[in-house]
Amino acid sequence: EKGGYEHFMLKEIFEQPRSILDCLRGRMIPEKGHLMMSGFFEYENKFAKANRILIVACGTSYHAGLVAEYLIEDLARVPVEVEYASEFRYRNPIINENDIVIAISQSGETADTLAAIELAKSKGATIFGICNVVGSSIARATDAGAYTHAGPEIGVASTKAFTAQVTVLTLIAMIMGRRRGTIETTKLNQLMVELESIPGKVEQALQLDEQIQKISAVFKDASSFLYLGRGYNFPVALEGALKLKEISYIHAEGYPAAEMKHGPIALIDEHMPVVVIATKDSSYEKIVSNVQEVRARKGKVIAVVTEGDNVIPSMADYVVEVPETNEHLMPLLSVIPLQLLSYHIAVMRGCNVDQPRNLAKSVTVE
Ligand code: M6R
Repeated sequence: EKGGYEHFMLKEIFEQPRSILDCLRGRMIPEKGHLMMSGFFEYENKFAKANRILIVACGTSYHAGLVAEYLIEDLARVPVEVEYASEFRYRNPIINENDIVIAISQSGETADTLAAIELAKSKGATIFGICNVVGSSIARATDAGAYTHAGPEIGVASTKAFTAQVTVLTLIAMIMGRRRGTIETTKLNQLMVELESIPGKVEQALQLDEQIQKISAVFKDASSFLYLGRGYNFPVALEGALKLKEISYIHAEGYPAAEMKHGPIALIDEHMPVVVIATKDSSYEKIVSNVQEVRARKGKVIAVVTEGDNVIPSMADYVVEVPETNEHLMPLLSVIPLQLLSYHIAVMRGCNVDQPRNLAKSVTVE
């Protein structure tokens, strides 16, 4: 059942080229300019006219929501707010019938997300669900939705569900941008072609496994990790830190790299491993400076870079290269080495990777 892998988590990490492909299937054919999602079709107009979009989710699904905020605002120019479902449900949020709420959940059973949906529904908002589990409570409670088609995810740490969520949200942002005329046709076509190449590039990123295993051996006894990223890689930093915390029980924090100077830089010394996601994108020059700041304080830098980069590798202690892609799609690649890093560190520490202590796959309590 684990398909020859030692753990479900590893199997699921390695399934990602396939699960992303399944998620794209029938929804995008770049050669034909075909871009469409059946569950989304009848709501396209409503989404296009929305004054704002609210996204509610928990944990890893919340991180996918943060990526979506950047994507939708950038490609479709509609304001997006992302909120933890647990906060949203217990405060007194401003929400009405003109709002569209996107609820993201792998299991479709998360109590806080379900309660946030019920609250938004009672105010007349339109609810769109992005779930992995077919027929789940959240899938049934929403007005419309799209499934991620990642297949069953057994490991408590979410991996392939995250990349599938980000893929669906990318398609939504692209469809919205097309409908609203906020994305040029050539750019849209280029993005479609690039998105189609992502499963193959994920496959390439998975070949980093052995190299990451070696890096994991160096840092497995660290007591704390910092994860830094900017732009599209900021949510990836949060996700990398969450993965490490939940399965290896090592304290980790994800931060937007520029926030470091407002506090966390005080933590950096020669004992602090700092994972920097520093791929070639619009914030590349800025993150180069952030790496220098970490180095100046003797922090140990593990950098995720774009293939062929020779600036960051000359400054970092350890470097892993992911293939080049458009910055909008980079989270789908840059998260892969972070999933592998947390997995190997947890295994080396003798942790129960698939069923970490104190955690459940579906959090059905508030
Ligand atoms: O099933 P959901 O996507 O609603 O679950 C939300 C979180 O409980 C979940 O992502 C949790 O944070 C994972 N264990 C992260 O790996």
